[in-house]
Amino acid sequence: MQYPLCEEIGAPELFVGRKKELAMLGTWIKQIPKRLGKSKAIFSRKKGGKTALVQRLFNKLWSENGPVIPIFYSISDAITWLPDFAITYFQIFASQYISFLERNPDLLQYVMDIEEIITYGKQKSNKMLVHQAKSILEHESKKRFSAMWFKACSSPHTFANIYNIRFLVIIDEFQYLSKYIYDPFTKEAIESLPGSYHALSESKVAPMLITGSYTNWLSTIVGKHLEGGRVTKHFFSPYLESDEGLVAVKTYAKAYNKKIFEQTALQINQLCYSDPFFISCLMQNQYEKHNLSTKKGVIDTVHYEISNKMSNMCIVWREYIDKTLEEINNINAKRILLHMSKNPDRVWIPKELKRELHLDISEQEILDRLRKLEKADLLQEGNAAIEFQGVNDGTLHLILRSRYGREIKDFEPDIRVDFEKRLQEMENTIQELEKEKQSLSGKLNFLKGEIAEEQLAKLIRKEKRFVLSKFFNGVNDTTRLNIIDIRTHVMIQRADGKNMEIDIKAESDCGRIILIEVKNWKKKLSVNIVKDFFEKVETYAQHNSKTKLLPAIWAANGFSEPAKALCFKKGIAGNYIETNN
Ligand SMILES: Nc1ncnc2c1ncn2[C@@H]1O[C@H](COP(=O)(O)OP(=O)(O)O)[C@@H](O)[C@H]1O
Ligand SMILES: [Mg+2]
Repeated sequence: MQYPLCEEIGAPELFVGRKKELAMLGTWIKQIPKRLGKSKAIFSRKKGGKTALVQRLFNKLWSENGPVIPIFYSISDAITWLPDFAITYFQIFASQYISFLERNPDLLQYVMDIEEIITYGKQKSNKMLVHQAKSILEHESKKRFSAMWFKACSSPHTFANIYNIRFLVIIDEFQYLSKYIYDPFTKEAIESLPGSYHALSESKVAPMLITGSYTNWLSTIVGKHLEGGRVTKHFFSPYLESDEGLVAVKTYAKAYNKKIFEQTALQINQLCYSDPFFISCLMQNQYEKHNLSTKKGVIDTVHYEISNKMSNMCIVWREYIDKTLEEINNINAKRILLHMSKNPDRVWIPKELKRELHLDISEQEILDRLRKLEKADLLQEGNAAIEFQGVNDGTLHLILRSRYGREIKDFEPDIRVDFEKRLQEMENTIQELEKEKQSLSGKLNFLKGEIAEEQLAKLIRKEKRFVLSKFFNGVNDTTRLNIIDIRTHVMIQRADGKNMEIDIKAESDCGRIILIEVKNWKKKLSVNIVKDFFEKVETYAQHNSKTKLLPAIWAANGFSEPAKALCFKKGIAGNYIETNN
């Protein structure tokens, strides 16, 4: 895969996870050539990973060179005059379209000017490029700015219809269109500008994928200016799954040359809630006293990130919270907000909040504040009009707490005490799993001869929500699995016809498949057995390319050091003893 569009994330290998979202978008994009794709809106809070996701999608489509041509716009929160915006909009469209046709990545870094576009159009007999460019210039010279903008924004749809091609128009931070594009005549923002996309959002030849960091704002725009019901809305959590979070910790640590251990990687992931932005900020922390190879170091660094005004996290979040809280700068509102975001699963009504927090304002006043906070995306609505709930966002809660906790006095002033508690909870859970694993080891050590596989399969079958790390070490994917099918002695065939046997194959309802090799030998497991098993896993993977495989080896008498090292390298779990590396 190529990365012609320079991704904001930086080095492409930093991108982790988002498999579910990419798969959902992939399925949708497959429908576009058949004219079945409906426009989509993606919502998640600021720094939730939207840009990372849509830019990766752009590069994927560009590299695949398939039937859908991606166009990417990023709308900024800086004031721009409509004619300038329209010209740039068209230039970006033309440059990205030509970049795709010519397989020229440079045109994604550099925007062609109108004259260059006209010359290209003439050379390649692309009449539409020449026509649209000239007509935009003509409108501009006559100061017909609305017509000029309409030409520009409908270009993907027009080109798709005339040339029978397909575009995907990605517009990042769509809501800014209603506030930052100014009319040169009135000198005011054109609030209704998103309405230009009213009909375009229904286009089946150039559907749109829009994103927004401000849920309420974007929702209102979609409802008011687009064909509301025709745009499918997706809300996604900023958080990665916990195993993906751990990968992000390790990837960012490697990229930024930070020394971590297996144990501290788990601690970082836990305290950062597997939030990739939080993790990335932590790893970029330059403060030399901070050391991520000890538990205390992890706690201090996380604390610094959320509490020090100069940290990356605080700088970004301050802007977000200031913007959203500016209207609600009120001590009671802050208490309500903090209290509710601490227990985000609970639904509250004003009366209950008044009692719980001993508030000396009326229920109506509480309701007003709740509504404002909800509008600012800091709370969510419940089912009834007076029901409200915190947003389930651990990072947001930490930031709010660090900012307002002292003012409010409802909380332990030193957040590090809570960090200690959360790490202790995690350690307890790990220890419990470890204990279960040891008792299981005891049981498995009594397994005899050929029936070892059967007995291990039986133990797995008994587990309701099975997690591979309960039985094995070195497991990267700690998703809880609902096993729906488990078989022993499964035969597979290599391309040259050689038959191979897999001792245990267990399939989960999420599509993951566990493959286990069982060796009940008296001596330690040798490296050759790991190599043979890896060959089986690869053969299996060739036949099932889309499946996520979790390979593991059970060796009754442990692993030789080279065998263990090879398992680590190949991502094979095992009942070996894990050491920090
Ligand atoms: N999938 C991911 N893998 C690794 N890091 C990520 C991922 N998504 C987000 N990040 C990190 O979080 C930061 C903010 O993400 P971004 O996509 O810019 O958020 P948004 O566009 O929603 O505001 C990125 O610069 C990157 O450091
Ligand atoms: Mg973004």
